[in-house]
Amino acid sequence: MPRPLRLGVNIDHVATVRNARGGRHPDPVRAAKLAAEAGADGITAHLREDRRHIIDSDIERLMAEIRLPLNLEMAATDEMLAIALRHTPHACCLVPEKRTEVTTEGGLDVAGQMGNLRRYVGDLGAAGIRVSLFIDPEPAQLDAAKALGAPVVELHTGAYCEAPAGAERAAELERIVRAAAHAEAIGLECHAGHGLSYETVGAVAAIPTIVELNIGHFLIGEAIFVGLGNTLQRMRAVMKDARLASGGVS
Ligand code: PXP
Repeated sequence: MPRPLRLGVNIDHVATVRNARGGRHPDPVRAAKLAAEAGADGITAHLREDRRHIIDSDIERLMAEIRLPLNLEMAATDEMLAIALRHTPHACCLVPEKRTEVTTEGGLDVAGQMGNLRRYVGDLGAAGIRVSLFIDPEPAQLDAAKALGAPVVELHTGAYCEAPAGAERAAELERIVRAAAHAEAIGLECHAGHGLSYETVGAVAAIPTIVELNIGHFLIGEAIFVGLGNTLQRMRAVMKDARLASGGVS
């Protein structure tokens, strides 16, 4: 049964620009409202330990003011767990976090950290939050996510997006295709994201077992030139064309 593809809009980098000067402008919650009007299916925000972009009050306001499901990206720490349990967003995506990284560089080593992650997956799930684990497209990581009882995985598409077009990118895409098939086979809902752009999104959107893409940096960057509404419209069109061309539904 073909499944439609959702678009989660990550608004972190509206907050990056705001924080460059302090103050309130530009407001990521306003961006979330615009994204909702422009047809986003969900809003994604990463509350980092160092609060370099999204801050605690953004999460409070997103929960209070936005009707779309919120996907809260967070590290597996007690501080973040307490925040998630206080707000109970629709979903939490557990991501690895290093203070010195510019962005989330790789997936979570679920297979290597099962003992630590079990409690987070369990406590979030028990609170009715849909738990997703952000992982590299590796079968061992998928199997570990399944063993922990997480219902969802998000495949890191960064290596695919960063690879030069040609054989290298095709090989990275193949890893994602195989991982998405493996997710389906073991009963995990499969999402994907990181680094996606108009150029790279089509091949991922065409994978029928991937049901959600989370995209941020490229969308916010494009929005500077043509506005968020126009950017989302075009991104949705590229996703839809690729999905339909592969025999799926949009
Ligand atoms: N998915 C996850 C789990 C992420 O951590 C990020 C980056 O915050 C994204 C998707 C979106 O990546 P990008 O901003 O490169 O589109």
